[in-house]
Amino acid sequence: MLEVTDLTVSYGAINAVRGVSLRLAEGELVTLLGANGAGKSSTLLAIAGALKSSGTVRVGGTDVSGWSPERMVRQGVAMVPETRDVFPDLTVAENLLLGAYARRRDRDGVAADRQRMFALFPRLQERQEQAAGTLSGGEQQMLVIARALMSRPRLLLLDEPSLGLAPTVVDQIFAMIAELKRQRLTILLVEQNASKALAVADRAYVLRLGKVAAEGRAADIAAASDLEHLYLGG
Ligand SMILES: Nc1ncnc2c1ncn2[C@@H]1O[C@H](COP(=O)(O)OP(=O)(O)O)[C@@H](O)[C@H]1O
Ligand SMILES: [Mg+2]
Repeated sequence: MLEVTDLTVSYGAINAVRGVSLRLAEGELVTLLGANGAGKSSTLLAIAGALKSSGTVRVGGTDVSGWSPERMVRQGVAMVPETRDVFPDLTVAENLLLGAYARRRDRDGVAADRQRMFALFPRLQERQEQAAGTLSGGEQQMLVIARALMSRPRLLLLDEPSLGLAPTVVDQIFAMIAELKRQRLTILLVEQNASKALAVADRAYVLRLGKVAAEGRAADIAAASDLEHLYLGG
């Protein structure tokens, strides 16, 4: 489904991502771990077309290297950045509609998808007429994920969805990710919460200083004695 080869991202003199290669099979949930500054967000942004990069990105066999974010969305790639941006003055329902902007003429399909999102996130249904800016942090996270899903992606890129949320909300977010996996969505999940991410993922990559320092089945990575060392970058 996703095949990234030798991805490189630089910010001026800073080489944030240095030759990262990764693969996701259809329906796989893969987590990308690493200490702060390891290059996780830069990797996701580059895959989504939001950052200039070198290397090759293939989605479903198509070479999409250098494509714009809008074109990537049409190719079935949706990203939820760690910035968790909602349109604060628009309602929950309006925020969701914007996620389906590329296919706004398909009114029935969009309405059906909105109902699907409300089934997945009952909290959003209760608050559909509320301004998004007045939602709690956890609810805003649910809204940005639901908005990304409104584009009907084949591949979802999630950047630190549990960051800064209360433990019960973190559990809800991970339960929702497990449900999306059950529905066979392909997911690349960046997380600081390594133990929770490894519990839900099929496979994992650990980034350190912009390079893949370890990769393998999630259970094997979780059991690795040097995980803390790799993860914390010590
Ligand atoms: N916009 C930017 N300008 C300059 N340097 C950046 C920028 N964004 C990230 N970096 C640097 O790139 C490296 C990787 O950052 P990032 O991809 O955000 O890592 P992570 O998501 O793993 O914390 C870090 O050294 C960070 O300081
Ligand atoms: Mg990051």
